[in-house]
Amino acid sequence: MTAAFELSLSGRTALVTGASSGIGRAIALAFAQAGAAVLVNHLGRADEAAALVREIHSLGAQAWAIEADVSRSADVAGLAAQAAQRCGTVDVLVNNAGIIQEKPFLDTTEDDWDRMLAVDLKSVFLTARAFFPGMEAQGHGVIINIASDLAVLGREHYAPYCAAKAGVIGLTRALAREFAPAIRVNAIAPGPVNTAMMSLDAMSPQWLAKELDIPQRRIAEPDEIAATALFLASDLSRFYCGQVLGPNGGSVMG
Ligand SMILES: NC(=O)c1ccc[n+]([C@@H]2O[C@H](COP(=O)([O-])OP(=O)(O)OC[C@H]3O[C@@H](n4cnc5c(N)ncnc54)[C@H](O)[C@@H]3O)[C@@H](O)[C@H]2O)c1
Repeated sequence: MTAAFELSLSGRTALVTGASSGIGRAIALAFAQAGAAVLVNHLGRADEAAALVREIHSLGAQAWAIEADVSRSADVAGLAAQAAQRCGTVDVLVNNAGIIQEKPFLDTTEDDWDRMLAVDLKSVFLTARAFFPGMEAQGHGVIINIASDLAVLGREHYAPYCAAKAGVIGLTRALAREFAPAIRVNAIAPGPVNTAMMSLDAMSPQWLAKELDIPQRRIAEPDEIAATALFLASDLSRFYCGQVLGPNGGSVMG
């Protein structure tokens, strides 16, 4: 048998949540360059999403913007309905949408906790429930969940975020076992990435020094995370199941 080293996503449809900025935007563009049609989910960022859709069209790929709050089940049901209406099936789902909050643990309110867990963890549960039946019916699917190296490292003043992202890894492994072999579920746990979420400009020199204290001694660009997502979305990763890949500059090893 001849090995097929093919990174093409031609003929596939991918949904990327929180795609209008940062890592999600880079993933959407990488997938479009590889030939996928892309559903660009966003929340309250219609202009950014429309600009991304135009950029994807200029690459010769199809794209649609769909607004939905992925932490709300009614919105996710609407997202699934719109996705089905526009392109039938979804072959690749990237759960990228996320928020972060820096706060000492004892100042963290129940609302802070509930919001973080809803956006960063419950959303993965909701989209899985909405999109897995279609993937099962078509006999294939790929799910990529964006976690964080902080799920493993922990970080003071980020307890709900660390807990939510650790939950994403646990959920990834449970879903991978339950839905294999038809649906491949894997996660990416990036280290620090140069996006609005990191807001490099707003970081104190001490905080920046902490982020740079990794073997690669720099912060990643969103494209470097998108490259991992492209690999996981493609058939090149067809034997990957329940794995957590770490484009993290060496912050976590193993
Ligand atoms: N930047 C980093 O250093 C870093 C490191 C590890 C993991 N991550 C993760 O990568 C993912 C992308 O983050 P980013 O760094 O690109 O930041 P970002 O803020 O640019 O992207 C997050 C996106 O999610 C969207 N979003 C937020 N809540 C939403 C909701 N309820 N419904 C739909 N969309 C929603 C935002 O509008 C935004 O477009 C997040 O899950 C984040 O936790 C980021």
